[in-house]
Amino acid sequence: MTVARTARDFQVAHLTHRPPIALAVVIPTFNERDNVAPLLEALENALEGRVWEAIFVDDASTDGTPERIEALAAWRGHVRLIRRIGRRGLSSAIVEGMLATVAPVVAVIDADMQHDEAALPALHDAIARDGADIAIGTRYAGAGSTGDWAESRVAASRLATRLARVAVRAEVSDPLSGFFAIRRDLLIATAPQLSNVGFKILLDLLASMPAGPRIAEVPYRFRCRHAGTSKLDSAVASEYLLLLADKTIGRVVPPRLILFLLVGGLGLMLHLLLLSALLRAGLAFATGQAIAGIAAITLAYTLDNAFTYRDRRRKGARWWRGLLRFTAACAIGLIANVGLAATLYRLEPVWWLAGIAGAAMGAVWTTAATSLLIRRN
Ligand code: GDD
Ligand code: MN
Repeated sequence: MTVARTARDFQVAHLTHRPPIALAVVIPTFNERDNVAPLLEALENALEGRVWEAIFVDDASTDGTPERIEALAAWRGHVRLIRRIGRRGLSSAIVEGMLATVAPVVAVIDADMQHDEAALPALHDAIARDGADIAIGTRYAGAGSTGDWAESRVAASRLATRLARVAVRAEVSDPLSGFFAIRRDLLIATAPQLSNVGFKILLDLLASMPAGPRIAEVPYRFRCRHAGTSKLDSAVASEYLLLLADKTIGRVVPPRLILFLLVGGLGLMLHLLLLSALLRAGLAFATGQAIAGIAAITLAYTLDNAFTYRDRRRKGARWWRGLLRFTAACAIGLIANVGLAATLYRLEPVWWLAGIAGAAMGAVWTTAATSLLIRRN
């Protein structure tokens, strides 16, 4: 896209003496305080001679990362910081950073120095000079490699990569790479179709954009993390599956519905098993239904807690307090559940039928309580 230049544009360019920005490098951060200075220095060396800007996107790090970035930016014109408050998610952070620039080419790089910044000029040139739409840093082609990864991590990454090929039609060796560059106008055209969930923005982009993008690959060797710890955890893994589901069957069944049915099914199984055991032990139906209902509520709480970001997970006393609060929020649902089940059981003494009817009533309430009480991104 070219815009006609007016005499005033030339006048402005002359006054500021600044050539237009050619490349924006987006750097997502969550607790990366000791990495941002060495990274910035490495980027400045690697991109020497280009007109570029760094855009950090921080999700309210608690270790002083944004303050460190501000100190670095204070005497550099080409460093910007976007602070997101009360939000989490690598993919959405990257997209917000990418949409905050006017540079024609946008790249992403991790803050922990695992990606080799020396490959950035090649990624940029592949688009700006050679006409690619996307240029991907790859660990799985040519001289690329995963470096010193543990065997289990290599296996997990290979499995995830194989799964990704179901969603992506394009031939790419490393669709899960977090190190790539893209033409900004293609990003803008694709943004409305993105799922925006989880860690894997490149996969999301490849699966959402019009068919037939021109793709370039630049091999690099994955390095070890410089400082700090990885944010990869069970929440990230489950969000990956959610992204894959959204990109494959998402047009037919919303993945959140699948998740609801999965958790609901597990809860119902636990409920019925426990209820039958309690009835066999001689408890009254209503008492058994109430105990089984509380067990199912505890399971919903436990599962939800296990699949939130590690740093937000409740442990010890906070876990118990959270469970109490959650159970209290579900109390009306539990009363409705037991009331309905006991009435049905009196009319028609089929324990599992009455049990399921009550549990379904309780599940609707538990879901509402979950979405009200538990904060999402
Ligand atoms: N803003 C923001 N919000 N940044 C985040 C968040 C978040 O919720 N979670 C992680 N980050 C930042 C980290 O601070 C780091 O700069 C980068 O995203 C990658 O996070 P790591 O915790 O280092 O993840 P990883 O090393 O397991 O995964 C990376 O490597 C993969 C290659 O296997 C990611 O870059 C993947 O995208 C990449 O594919
Ligand atoms: Mn990392």
